[in-house]
Amino acid sequence: HLPSLVAIVLSYLIGSLSFAVIVSRSLGMADPRSYGSGNPGATNVLRSGKKGAALATLLLDAFKGWLPVFLIRHHGAAFGMGYDVAALAGLAAFLGHLYPVFFGFKGGKGVATAAGVLLGIDAFLGLATGGTWLIIAVFFRYSSLASIIAAFFAPAYYLMGGGIAWPLSRTVLVTLIAISLLLIWRHRENIRRLAAGTESRLGSKKKD
Ligand code: G3P
Repeated sequence: HLPSLVAIVLSYLIGSLSFAVIVSRSLGMADPRSYGSGNPGATNVLRSGKKGAALATLLLDAFKGWLPVFLIRHHGAAFGMGYDVAALAGLAAFLGHLYPVFFGFKGGKGVATAAGVLLGIDAFLGLATGGTWLIIAVFFRYSSLASIIAAFFAPAYYLMGGGIAWPLSRTVLVTLIAISLLLIWRHRENIRRLAAGTESRLGSKKKD
């Protein structure tokens, strides 16, 4: 189905915009791949001490996940695209963030982009998962731990609300599980650091 294919490729290209690098470059800051965890993501940009740049990275990386899902959900029907294609486009944007064609396929861990995808699928799903992230982040002060735990909960929340708050689709569920598994796998270095007690906490500018 050509419109779906075009939408998925475009979503991957939007996802490939690594906003941690773009925002840092445009503000004349150091490349986030050169300090802290070396990850091009909002958490690592925060380690530069520039909260505004970190917030801009978070919002833009989330926006690029939200946009394709939202557009297809609300305007895709005219092109024969439904809920399932919206979720697959979200997965494509997420993969673009992880493996960006514009940045040598070396991207981030996908937390903000996954949050955007969840918000696009359903605002409550995004808020429940984001709320889970926030609770863990506030209590334990590890961004990575919050992301890993929220990733476990996202498909569970989707299942719980399925058929009640939103229509339950097997494709969407499998897509969310794939996003969560990839996200957790991208955090394997963080998991090692958490186990070793060397992971840097939110609010500390110490290098990892
Ligand atoms: O957004 C990714 C976050 O969960 C961990 O980032 O820089 O601590 O590896 P970082």
